[in-house]
Amino acid sequence: MQDSHTWKLFSLEDTNHIGWCLAKSLKGTENIFIYGNLGTGKTSLCRAIISSMGYKDRIKSPTYTIIEHYNIDGFYINHLDLYRIADPEELFFSGISEQLMTGVSLIEWPDNGSGILKKPDVKIYLDYEDNCRSIHIVSSSASGANLLSSIRSLVNLKD
Ligand SMILES: Nc1ncnc2c1ncn2[C@@H]1O[C@H](COP(=O)(O)OP(=O)(O)O)[C@@H](O)[C@H]1O
Ligand SMILES: [Mg+2]
Repeated sequence: MQDSHTWKLFSLEDTNHIGWCLAKSLKGTENIFIYGNLGTGKTSLCRAIISSMGYKDRIKSPTYTIIEHYNIDGFYINHLDLYRIADPEELFFSGISEQLMTGVSLIEWPDNGSGILKKPDVKIYLDYEDNCRSIHIVSSSASGANLLSSIRSLVNLKD
């Protein structure tokens, strides 16, 4: 169940490619935590996933709204950015847990929701390297393991 893979990302195109592979691999209920410092490409990855699912309009960063919902021909995606959440209790009272019962959830800064969010199927770590960036994907459930093996079969990047 616990499996992982790291790829180097040399450009935004590489991030977009991984986002496309992720989108093509989603079943529809995965809970995905996305870690990484400011500017490592978390929102870019989410945008790539959402647009690869066929969403045509502008994809806002949920930095201020905390959560954005997408219904793409009946495929539901919740995109969250918890950067501004100082205390997970804020989420408890906002009713966000109920809003995450349907669809795929992509959650930036998940540590700020600890104790409130359900366990992830995969954790994605974005990082700066010397001359590029990297993405490290770790599965933590059976559906996460399926997701990662599908991504692996689609990705066309160097490790
Ligand atoms: N693999 C990459 N290589 C180069 N630039 C990237 C890459 N991924 C994202 N970027 C750029 O980095 C900037 C910050 O990305 P963003 O997705 O907003 O980061 P975060 O949500 O982690 O703060 C954007 O200008 C984006 O175009
Ligand atoms: Mg962001």
